[in-house]
Amino acid sequence: MSDKAIHRSVPLPAGIRLTLAPMAGVTDSPMRTVCGACGAGYAVTEMISAKALVYEQRSHAGAPAKTATLAYIDPDEKIPVAVQIFGSEPDFMADAAELISNSSYRGFSGAAPAAVDINMGCPVKKVVSNGEGSALMKDPEKIYSIVSAVCGSSSLPVTVKMRSGWNGEHVNAPECAVAAEAAGAAAVCVHARTREQFYRPGADISVIGETKAAVKIPVIGNGDIDSPEAAEFMLRQTGCDGIAIARAAIGDPWIFSSVRAMTEGRPLPPPPAPRDILDTALLQLRLSVKLKGERRGVAEVKFSLSHYLKGLPGSAAARRDIMSATSEDATADVLRGFFGQFAGGDTAVRRITPYGLSETEK
Ligand SMILES: Cc1cc2nc3c(=O)[nH]c(=O)nc-3n(C[C@H](O)[C@H](O)[C@H](O)COP(=O)(O)O)c2cc1C
Repeated sequence: MSDKAIHRSVPLPAGIRLTLAPMAGVTDSPMRTVCGACGAGYAVTEMISAKALVYEQRSHAGAPAKTATLAYIDPDEKIPVAVQIFGSEPDFMADAAELISNSSYRGFSGAAPAAVDINMGCPVKKVVSNGEGSALMKDPEKIYSIVSAVCGSSSLPVTVKMRSGWNGEHVNAPECAVAAEAAGAAAVCVHARTREQFYRPGADISVIGETKAAVKIPVIGNGDIDSPEAAEFMLRQTGCDGIAIARAAIGDPWIFSSVRAMTEGRPLPPPPAPRDILDTALLQLRLSVKLKGERRGVAEVKFSLSHYLKGLPGSAAARRDIMSATSEDATADVLRGFFGQFAGGDTAVRRITPYGLSETEK
């Protein structure tokens, strides 16, 4: 059963130990680029529907390949990137993984992915009602079939991202991880909440330690890591092989440099100066416009940009101005105007905890 794991030729990148976790609508190429520059070792695209990708490729050649663009990895991203797919049908998952692994699909123009990641954590109703995302955790045999099919069609490492389980009565991440490992998965990432918990407080990281004890493949711990101390606590408490950070990285890619310093036993770097924050926000804006064109690029980066201001004095009005700006220049002017108030630009004044944020429960 496990010889699938042995024939994989491409090793899992070591950078997975410090991962930017996938976020729909957020972890696009510009966000991954700034996080990589700030110390993330690995990143995952937002989740992409396997079925939509496969159907899109089968449709007539002239149609725009919208789903494929979600899998775009810029050659200038400095870190390995996994493409995440979701679905419940092994055949579609295998076909999508094959397209991604061969970089052979229409709409593809970027760098090759480092791995294929399978989503088994999405809690959103319209996803789980199709038996996809975290609904897969109700059926470890299905997990085995899907991971097996994907491993059979891809030469890349295959990883799985899951939750603790479906609900408090079914906390079965260790069992699901065992099924994934037996089918050939190279690593699992566990978000320490059940589907029922969505993003509510009460993550219980003990399940990550239990998963680590159940499998030989690397286990990446995820959930509520918003500081180097929280990262170290996760590593020490669970024995996990690495950590993944999602929400705390929005508008604060420097979390990766401080976590990296702490885990490598170096002194923590000083928090970013306002000038660094401005430069990084402007870079993410510029990359977004370059990749998506001005209209879409500005619209889709606003959410992240507004987080760069969060917690700073007087940011409420500037955040509103960012949300209403429609051009790159207007958005950049708001950022420059706001950060210009910090004379000298070198006083560190903030800490972001964007935990109001979650995928919708609808
Ligand atoms: C807006 C948003 C979108 C997300 N989209 C995805 C996704 O596409 N795929 C996935 O596996 N997890 C997704 N997640 C879950 C995160 O990867 C992560 O597991 C979760 O936020 C807990 O980590 P954190 O406490 O560091 O934020 C999303 C989370 C948020 C807040």
